[in-house]
Amino acid sequence: MKSLSVFRPNLNRPSGRAIAAAVRATVNSQVSDQATELAQLVEPKASVAKESPLDSQVKAAGLESAAPPTDLALPVGKNIIAIGSGKGGVGKTFFSITLCQALASCGERVLLFDGDLGLANIDVQIGASVKHDLSQVVRGRVTMAQAVTPYPASGFDILAGSSGGGSLASLSPTRIAMLGRDLVEFAVNYDSVVMDLGAGVDRMVRYLAGHAGRRMVILTSEPTSMTDAYAFIKMVMSDDPKAEVQVVINQARTLQEGEKTFAAIEGVCERFLNFRPQLAGIVRRDRRVNEAIRAQVPILNKFPGADAAIDIIGIASRLRSQK
Ligand SMILES: Nc1ncnc2c1ncn2[C@@H]1O[C@H](COP(=O)(O)OP(=O)(O)O)[C@@H](O)[C@H]1O
Ligand SMILES: [Mg+2]
Repeated sequence: MKSLSVFRPNLNRPSGRAIAAAVRATVNSQVSDQATELAQLVEPKASVAKESPLDSQVKAAGLESAAPPTDLALPVGKNIIAIGSGKGGVGKTFFSITLCQALASCGERVLLFDGDLGLANIDVQIGASVKHDLSQVVRGRVTMAQAVTPYPASGFDILAGSSGGGSLASLSPTRIAMLGRDLVEFAVNYDSVVMDLGAGVDRMVRYLAGHAGRRMVILTSEPTSMTDAYAFIKMVMSDDPKAEVQVVINQARTLQEGEKTFAAIEGVCERFLNFRPQLAGIVRRDRRVNEAIRAQVPILNKFPGADAAIDIIGIASRLRSQK
């Protein structure tokens, strides 16, 4: 874990230029382009002392978060783990499914909640056929308990998003709040509830993340993913300055590359948000992930020995040891 020490804070707090220089120093031939872009992102301009240059990237990407929930006393489910990313396509759904399966295989009662209401696709990724989904819950046609689909092949339950078309992305704040409250009440039936959030930091993501006792953010070594993860962390911290956010680096070509990516996000968070995220784990890139998704079979069923599967089992067991 030698490279993780690059951005450890010191009493003289490193300057943005020092962080940028450190990011450059970690460049190796495999990740040189990406690391150079990252270095540019974290290098402050002379006139901007407190705001990270990532903030302007966040604005340029239209990723400024929605207004915070007006109801500040959102009920929180301690056993709810929100999985966010900012950017789509980083592997959030794959990670959420596999984490559920890993927790269930330890004997936990687990619910996978498809909080990506604009692009609900958990059921598609694992080939589960669901009878009811959240759109029916929101419309008051079924209760959450009735909408749950057991998924015996992997030992956990699914609350599918809007599977039959009709996006739920534009629910009113009142409806989102009702859904969140319902979920917190319903979560007591489980040991863990994993919430696969939508991409971005819109109102839905912000409200749903507010109900979770734990938050994880997933990113890859791509600079855009770093910007988006930073936007997510910033949103969480602004709603709850005491929040813990754990970081998962996904699709790492090597563990070393994953450590460098973590060091970069850790450094930016320490400098600009005064917050040091924890590393939940590094998940290696693995072609069998794609094969399993194409076959619509969870990876732990299809390729239990795959690197990515083993890495997520490790994350699940660390999560359990933190309870
Ligand atoms: N560890 C990994 N190794 C290889 N490919 C991955 C890995 N994680 C995710 N992917 C690929 O990334 C794509 C997007 O994954 P998905 O879970 O749908 O992302 P998201 O939910 O963040 O949009 C999938 O097609 C999958 O094959
Ligand atoms: Mg997804």
